[in-house]
Amino acid sequence: MYEQLSHSLLNEILDELKPELRRQDLRHFYTRLGANFYAIHTLFNHLYGQREDFKQQMIRLVEVMANQYINRSGRLERSDMQREKDLNWFLSQELVGMALYTEGFGDNVQGVRKHLPYLQELGVNMVHVMPMMQCPEGASDGGYAVSDFRQIDARVGTLEDVSSLAEALHNRDMLLVLDVVVNHTSDEHEWARRSRNGERQYQDYYYIFDNRDLPDMFEETLPEIFPETSPGNFTWDETMEKWVMTVFHNYQWDLNYSNPVVLIEMIDIILFWANQGADVVRLDAVAFLWKKIGTTSQNEREAHLLLQLMKDCCQVTAPGVLFIAEAIVAPVEITKYFGEDAVIAKECEIAYNATFMALLWDACCTQNANLLNRGIRSLPDKLDRATWLNYVRSHDDIGLGFDDRDIVAAGYSPSAHRQFLVEYLTGVYDDSDARGQPFGQNLKTGDARISGSLASLIGLEVAIEQNDEARIDKAISRILLMYGMVLSFGGIPLLYYGDEIGTLNDCGYLQDKNKSGDNRWVHRPHIDWEKAEKRREQGSVEQRIFDGLKKMIAVRKTIRAFADFNNRELIELANPHLFAFWRTNPFAAGSPVLVVANFDDAPQYLDLSSLGNRGLFQFSGLMDLYSGESPALFKDQLVVPPFHFYWLTDERPEMLM
Ligand code: GLC
Repeated sequence: MYEQLSHSLLNEILDELKPELRRQDLRHFYTRLGANFYAIHTLFNHLYGQREDFKQQMIRLVEVMANQYINRSGRLERSDMQREKDLNWFLSQELVGMALYTEGFGDNVQGVRKHLPYLQELGVNMVHVMPMMQCPEGASDGGYAVSDFRQIDARVGTLEDVSSLAEALHNRDMLLVLDVVVNHTSDEHEWARRSRNGERQYQDYYYIFDNRDLPDMFEETLPEIFPETSPGNFTWDETMEKWVMTVFHNYQWDLNYSNPVVLIEMIDIILFWANQGADVVRLDAVAFLWKKIGTTSQNEREAHLLLQLMKDCCQVTAPGVLFIAEAIVAPVEITKYFGEDAVIAKECEIAYNATFMALLWDACCTQNANLLNRGIRSLPDKLDRATWLNYVRSHDDIGLGFDDRDIVAAGYSPSAHRQFLVEYLTGVYDDSDARGQPFGQNLKTGDARISGSLASLIGLEVAIEQNDEARIDKAISRILLMYGMVLSFGGIPLLYYGDEIGTLNDCGYLQDKNKSGDNRWVHRPHIDWEKAEKRREQGSVEQRIFDGLKKMIAVRKTIRAFADFNNRELIELANPHLFAFWRTNPFAAGSPVLVVANFDDAPQYLDLSSLGNRGLFQFSGLMDLYSGESPALFKDQLVVPPFHFYWLTDERPEMLM
């Protein structure tokens, strides 16, 4: 049906736009605005329709989109148009990401640029440079407390450096991922300073209260994110003599999205970074965007509406730019951040697959894929044209965020099993080589998460200390096994910097008073470039991991069945140590790939006849695409060595492309 209301409003808004905007050639902008306006208006009306200044705010929003469109470079506009045509471009198996800290990887932005050949050598073509916007000198939660959203932290570079980095990446066919911290600002941000100054207009940007009445009501149901270092969700501000909502650290002030001005500012900021050359914007802590008394203030419906609005507006101005949802929440909630509908209610194209990450660690600790098999089945299907970011670990702690019902179904008691995992990963458990540290322990709830580098968690640190070759082999196999899953599951694999050379825990952060209270820094290393050089020494730990990953990445890029078109089928197996799935080829005739992983330290057998008749798949002529070798078979049983994975095909590799 023709939607008169939003159309007449759009006409009025266009008439009222500033003359300088009306004079510009905005053809493509208007086409997209027209196409998206019904959704934008409906959402904006739903959230802010009762306000007297509703229309002025809508005009302001359209002006922001138009201005940022005008600022968009010709090169970026061409890339937008190209991506609109090739709309599935980001589902390709050719994308492989890495997340890194500017300082830790290259000292500064220019240093990151200097090391791009290293990333290209590995096969990485999507680089998430973690927050580098201006933030306080002291504690800044690793840059996630932003004091100016439009400036780069002077300690790492300038806006020009970022533009050159974007250009250098694009020249190498690599993508740039940047963070926009949408949920909060630093208490040193201008909006916070002006709030302190008593300016009501800015106090409305945050949740600020005169007394404890409302904060206490909120606290009844709000969980604590950093219970050890930042208990509670409100901070007393001496200057204002008021309470401020600070869900994360006490210096991170939560933004108040029930004020449309905040949303419009944030859309402007997102588009600003899109115009600096970000191909993908990672929206931080999106689950927290809407606060409601009587709830956990996470995953609220309005948070989803805000994300839909951000997406629709971005589609108008910078349609080639993708969003990553950073929502580390329960499995049933995570998939909602893709949106309700791929066309009319889209949110983020990409979301962290925190469920798969946690389940992989479970399989690793238990040497058993029982919970992994169940947990993955509980992950709801995702929309078309939405894809996962699959990872083994990130800059954050590892949360054991699986569903209690799955833990029970896997035959464990939830609290005992979680306790086992924490004890295992922190090396308290007798039989464990892991060197993790508990993070965010909550004595009230018994909850804990884990810090530690992949190599230290998986036993490489202990193995090297003991100079134990067999253990070193085992740790390397497990690192490659974990990444073998992440690279084949479906979605974009996201490596974490340092993993590729087996970087161990780094306790240097303890010397820095701004970091020493947060043990996540133990796995946020400074890359030791001399150690990285050892990747060229045949047989070194660094060479074995680096080359293993490099080969895996190169092979992944040739397997079209690894593109993400929801083309994965889990296989129910009798053997609990194995995890297996088919990746069917979305492109007509190609053969599927059978992925099999053994999480146990003994060889395990897969009865091929139990897999049934899979079309013309020839179980007799199997070949592992990763190693290029034929796997061992024993009487119709596939032998999977300890901590080993296969990417099996029955075709010659060239047939897969
Ligand atoms: C996200 C970041 C994390 C940070 C938090 C608060 O979860 O990944 O590092 O502490 O947001 O900004």
